[in-house]
Formats: sequence, C-alpha cells, structure tokens
Amino acid sequence: MELGDAVRTAVTTRRFKPDAVPDELLARALDYGRFAPQGGNRQPVRFVVVRDPEHRRQLQEWYLVPWKAYIGAALEGGIDIGSTHATGLLRNADHMAEHFGEAPAIVVVCAELAGLHPTDTELGRLSIVGGGSVYPAVQNFILGCREVGLGAALTTLLCIYEPQVKELLKIPDGVATAAHVVVGFRERPFPSALDRKPLGEIAFDGTWGAPFLGER
Ligand SMILES: Cc1cc2nc3c(=O)[nH]c(=O)nc-3n(C[C@H](O)[C@H](O)[C@H](O)COP(=O)(O)O)c2cc1C
Repeated sequence: MELGDAVRTAVTTRRFKPDAVPDELLARALDYGRFAPQGGNRQPVRFVVVRDPEHRRQLQEWYLVPWKAYIGAALEGGIDIGSTHATGLLRNADHMAEHFGEAPAIVVVCAELAGLHPTDTELGRLSIVGGGSVYPAVQNFILGCREVGLGAALTTLLCIYEPQVKELLKIPDGVATAAHVVVGFRERPFPSALDRKPLGEIAFDGTWGAPFLGER
C-alpha cells in the first residue's frame, strides 16, 4: 500500500467484526510503531496487547465512565466536537464504548517516564512536548494497522483509570499509559479519504496566517 493512501484513509474505526486478529498482522503494525522517532532515541514506548476477554471487559467497564461523562457534556454543548459530522461521530463513538471489550484487541500504549524529556514545562501552559516521544509511535502503529487491513481507534479517555489499568496489566512503576488503541477488522470498507481541513487553512508561508501555496 502507498504511504499516501494509508495516511489519507486510516480513519478511526469504531465498529469491529468479532474475528480474532492474527498475530502476524499485529506484529507487523507494532513493528512500524518501533520505528517512530523518540527524543534522544531513548525508546520509552511499550505496547501491551490485551486480548484476554475478562481484561477487555474490565477495560470497557472503566472506559464507559469517562465516556458517558464526555458524551453527556457533548450533547449539552459543553464540549466542541470540532467535526462537521459530530452526530455520526458521537453515535459511532457511543457504539464503540458500549462494545469496547468486544473488539478483538486493545493495545495499551505505555511510556517509561524516565525516557521522556519534555522541553516546555516552564512555559506556564499545558506541556505538548511531553507526549512527543509517544504519539508518533501510536500513529505509526495505526498506519501499520491500515496497511495490513486492520481498523484502529486511538482513545485516551481511559488514561484517567491509569492506576487501575496498571494494576490489571502488571504495568510497573515509572511507566505511564498514553493511549488505548482498539484494533480489529472493520465492519465496513475503509473510506477513500478522511474529513480534514484544507492545507491552506493549516499551513502558513513564513508568518502565521499567510496560506502556504500548493493547496490540495
Ligand atoms: C489524542 C487523541 C485522543 C482521542 N481519544 C479518543 C477517545 O478517547 N475516544 C474516541 O472515541 N476517540 C478518540 N480519539 C479519536 C478522534 O475522535 C478522531 O481521531 C477524530 O475524530 C478524527 O476522526 P477520523 O479518524 O474518523 O477522521 C482520539 C484522538 C486523538 C488524536
């Protein structure tokens, strides 16, 4: 598969077939995660592939708590969904939440805290760099899933249950949970393109606001 095709069509999958995911496919996608850039090449990212049905059921029970709070706030207008397809997004996301543990695999992406080196903690705002050594690996993994024909949903709501998840999965001290990627075969075919802003709105030429040419 061409890289551009994978990038343009790696949509968030929230409806999965019950079919098990072959180890070889997961391994190929995880291997892509391995090659992501990480600050100082310290390689702090770890992946825990959760397939045990009882563990998945427990993860679903925990996921539903922040999800129900989130969807409640979203429906009351307290959260900006930022999508032209907000209703469909919430419906699919609610479906995934209600069936979270039925997806064949949930990949918990972890990071060894000692291997992270955020450079923006003194700015008096939320650190963005903190996750910089983690999420490229998550995206590489998701693109790997796309290449092998697996759907994936990047989620972070469950991170609020980090202490419980760590105990359940025997994740050691000094390691944080960064994402829970739900993985499986899609119910429907992949779309031909994702719903994203045009390049002219997000890429600037020289100074903020001057649209970069070559809009596609
Ligand atoms: C940092 C991050 C956290 C996310 N957390 C969740 C989540 O907890 N639950 C969920 O259903 N989707 C989650 N998403 C998926 C986004 O909703 C999705 O990427 C976005 O709506 C674009 O959707 P698309 O891939 O269908 O175009 C998350 C995405 C990112 C990048």
